[in-house]
Amino acid sequence: MESPALSIVSINNVQLGKDVNIVQPVNLYGCTIGNNCFIGPFVEIQKNVSIGNNCKIQSHTFICELITIGNNCFIGHGVMFINDLFQKGGPAGGNKELWKETHIGNHVSIGSNATILPVIICDHVIIGAGAVVTRNIEKPGIYVGNPAKFLRTINTSF
Ligand SMILES: CC(C)(COP(=O)(O)OP(=O)(O)OC[C@H]1O[C@@H](n2cnc3c(N)ncnc32)[C@H](O)[C@@H]1OP(=O)(O)O)[C@@H](O)C(=O)NCCC(=O)NCCS
Repeated sequence: MESPALSIVSINNVQLGKDVNIVQPVNLYGCTIGNNCFIGPFVEIQKNVSIGNNCKIQSHTFICELITIGNNCFIGHGVMFINDLFQKGGPAGGNKELWKETHIGNHVSIGSNATILPVIICDHVIIGAGAVVTRNIEKPGIYVGNPAKFLRTINTSF
């Protein structure tokens, strides 16, 4: 039997704030995680990702390069972020000029199994479970579906 090239999940070169709780195994490298955050198992967070304070990243979520997440955010289980839209008819591969950024504001909760394409999401937004967010969200509220559409307003006074 041939031997495969093996890499091991690890926590490598991560800037961690105070009181961060991580449940292994996780694959975190080159990213920044603020104070009082929780990172569940089977999460991957790639380099140059920035996560603010008081955030929960639930199990099985993938956060790729070029993503920023603000403070007081909840990222549910199995949320997938995307930075490569296959704009040239297929994966960009190593051509990072084709990758695009995503910025998540403060007090944003993303339901389980949502997919977030490269967008900007403002403060005080809830994304429903299984939603696919394809456009910027500029107004607080709840958004659901594929593509995600506005469902209703929420109380933003917290
Ligand atoms: C989006 C969400 C917050 C809406 O909650 P709500 O305001 O109580 O919504 P309702 O249950 O009253 O549903 C309102 C409408 O939206 C629809 N809807 C609710 N959630 C939806 C979702 N995730 N995707 C698509 N449609 C959804 C309902 O079917 C209903 O449609 P109808 O009016 O045509 O019947 C909630 O359903 C949700 O998805 N929460 C995510 C929870 C989560 O993932 N938690 C992770 C930790 S376990």
